[in-house]
Amino acid sequence: MHSIFETIKSVAFEIDHAIKTADLGYSNSENSSGEDQLKLDVQSDIIIEKAFASVAVVKNLVSEEKEGVLTLNEAGKYTICYDPLDGSSLVDVNLSVGSIFGIYENELQGSNLVASAYVVYGPRIELVIATKGQKPMLYRAIGDTFKEIGSITLDKKGKLNAPGGTQQNWCDYHKTFVDDLFTEGYRLRYSGGMVPDLHQIMLKGGGIFSYPATSDKPHGKLRQLFEVIPFAFMYEQAGGYAINDKGLRLMELIPSHPHDTSPCFFGSKYEINALKTAYGIKN
Ligand code: AHG
Repeated sequence: MHSIFETIKSVAFEIDHAIKTADLGYSNSENSSGEDQLKLDVQSDIIIEKAFASVAVVKNLVSEEKEGVLTLNEAGKYTICYDPLDGSSLVDVNLSVGSIFGIYENELQGSNLVASAYVVYGPRIELVIATKGQKPMLYRAIGDTFKEIGSITLDKKGKLNAPGGTQQNWCDYHKTFVDDLFTEGYRLRYSGGMVPDLHQIMLKGGGIFSYPATSDKPHGKLRQLFEVIPFAFMYEQAGGYAINDKGLRLMELIPSHPHDTSPCFFGSKYEINALKTAYGIKN
């Protein structure tokens, strides 16, 4: 696993350099979810694919930007499912973006995820790595290396509320849930990039990030293998909770297609319990 984390550190610097210097226009292609690809998405994907090509323990790569599975080494042990540059359209307006990595053994499902990592490209580059039985560890880029900063623990109750999707497409009980948190004094913190938004909640003690089922996206927007499950693992390792709209742990999701999405809620104990009450989910 060490070689995988070292590779993620090196691609983080390369992608950060591309963000700061590369052409921000669109490529002439769409990703497998039918979205127009930015040149930066494609470039970040290529950087990651090239870097992992020489890491012997990696069997397969599955990219949010491509259809299908790329086999690198039949004798390898792990499949890495990754979103090379999540929220890439935010680069246009100079907001933070990120890369997300889920490391799986055997079939691609939540229970087989063994580690996850994400990189935030902001005023600084930060990396968080989560492994089984350990609190997620925060690293910050200093010069050309990553320095270990410390482990991350979520408080039982936070102050931040990051509600995804468009309000006009929320169901009534979701709207009530979000409004009630604001009435309690929660602060709105939503940039439109799940990596910096979830990172902020983790580093500031807690709160909730939600991307519900909406009338225009009944199965949610965020992808299970590349986004939802890796962050569910992070939140659980940090002492938080991560469930879908039926109360199922996101770590128990079994996608039937690599690009399947899921409604998702990540947060501290208090906010996830409030969500369960609002959604009528029995414990
Ligand atoms: P994209 O895959 O187009 O980069 O979308 C970013 C994702 C995620 O990062 C973010 O949380 C979410 O889309 C925001 O969606 P809404 O604008 O619908 O809230």
